[in-house]
Order: sequence, then structure tokens, then C-alpha cells
Amino acid sequence: MQTVEENHAPLKELDEWDDFVASRYKQGKAEGEFRNYEADANPGVAEFYRQNHAYQTLDFVLKKKAEYGALARGKKSIWDMADYLNTLVDDSDPDTDLTQIEHLFQTSEAIRKDGHPGWFVLTGFVHDLGKVLCLYGEPQWAVVGDTFPVGCAYSDQIVFPEYFAANPDSKVTEYQTKYGIYLPNCGLDNVHLSWGHDEYIYMVTRNYLPEPAQYMLRYHSFYPAHRHGAYRHLMNEHDEQMFEWVRKFNPYDLYSKGADRPNVKEIMPYYRDLVAEFFPSEIDW
Ligand SMILES: [Fe+2]
Ligand SMILES: [Fe+2]
Repeated sequence: MQTVEENHAPLKELDEWDDFVASRYKQGKAEGEFRNYEADANPGVAEFYRQNHAYQTLDFVLKKKAEYGALARGKKSIWDMADYLNTLVDDSDPDTDLTQIEHLFQTSEAIRKDGHPGWFVLTGFVHDLGKVLCLYGEPQWAVVGDTFPVGCAYSDQIVFPEYFAANPDSKVTEYQTKYGIYLPNCGLDNVHLSWGHDEYIYMVTRNYLPEPAQYMLRYHSFYPAHRHGAYRHLMNEHDEQMFEWVRKFNPYDLYSKGADRPNVKEIMPYYRDLVAEFFPSEIDW
């Protein structure tokens, strides 16, 4: 049961988290400046992290993985899902804000302009479709946010680490050792990350996209690892190699926002073909 407190939405729009992350890693910003994030965060963002860190327990993550991993919410096309996600309208400033689909297209178009293969472009296009979790009624703290492993000690490379004190798992000794419930270098596939839109879109698309794409989708918000090198003691050799792709993807997610508004009509035929090349007309969500 969620309390009223858990359900209140600290972010005016989901994009506020994305914008905060982008400002944290502004191009040209030195790594050391990362610690200034607290000053950059507005009260809504800080409150968002307070909830995220307090409520993402191992138990919660296992429940959500079982619930959504069943892919039992029905069959829908990628386009149905994109249209559905687009109903998540930001009410703060309709003139300047991009729609969710526009963010997806900006990301994928930036990838396409750099001459990357179709599967990479497609990964850019679908990468945030998991945010439909919000429309399913999940609270913001269970949809977005930097992800981190649960069931083992929290890295100090996670934003606002002090908020973990309120997480019930922080009182469970077994979960607070370096390896916690995991074995050294057991591989990330064996590690449970905090629940959100990354894991969900990975689950939905895993059978249709090549492995580097699966890594990009599954770990694109895992900033403590792909940006700060934390949790390498849980990663195996294969993860290390695949994280090259995650790192290759990240700038397109972070820095494509300022780009021109995509001409959706013009690029649509290309994307219709691209989606049809990799996905059947409907998939399980
Ligand atoms: Fe995302
Ligand atoms: Fe994104």
C-alpha cells in the first residue's frame, strides 16, 4: 500500500529529472563539479530523489520486475506506445516544451546524423517509451531517476546518497556489505537495479534488438556505473565491453535536446520502415 506521501508528484513534469541530469553533465563541465548538483537541483528534484532513495527497496524492485516482466498488459505496436506516451503532456510551458515523441526523435535523429546503423537509431527512438509506467499509475520515483543496485551497499557516486538513510534496506546488514546478496563480478544480469523506465523498455524489446541495444536501454540511467565507474566489482568482462555502447549512447540522450524541432512528417516514412524492420506489428507490453 502506498501512502499519500509516496504518491505526491514532486516533479512538475518527468522531463525535469532529465533536464537535471543534463545540467549535471553539461558538456565541458569538469568531473569534480558533479558535486555541485545539490545547488543545481530545484526543490522538486531534491524531493523527487528523497522519495526515490527512500522507497526503492530490493523487495519493491522484485515485485515490479515480476509484475511487469510478465508482459501481461496487452499487445500493442511501437507506434501505439509512442502515441500513448505522448498523452503525457507537460502543462508547464506548452510553447517551448518538446513532446515525448519529439525527444525520442531528437535523440534518434542525432544518432542517424552521425551515420550509426539502423538498430542504434531505433534504440534512440524507443529508449524512453518505458516512461508509460507513469501512465500506468506508477509514481515518478518508480519511473525515472538515476538507477542503482539494490541489495548491496549504496555507492557514494549516486546523487544525494544521504537520502538512503530513510530506505528500510539501509537497516538490513546483509544488504549493506560491498557485495550484499551478490557474488563478486557476477554480472549485471544477476543484479537488481532500482525499478524504472529502463528495465521496463528492456523487457519489452529484448527479443527484437541486438545485445548492444539491450544494454543501452537497460542501463541508460545507470549513471553511477557508466558515468562514474562505480559497481565495477559486480560487473563482469562482458558488461565492461557492452558498457562501451552504453557510453556511446549517453551523449545522444543528454545533449540532443537543444537540437532543432524534428520535422515529424518528413522523417516518418524512414521510421515506419525502421520499426517494421525490427518489430512485428504488435508486441507484448
Ligand atoms: Fe530515459
Ligand atoms: Fe531520454
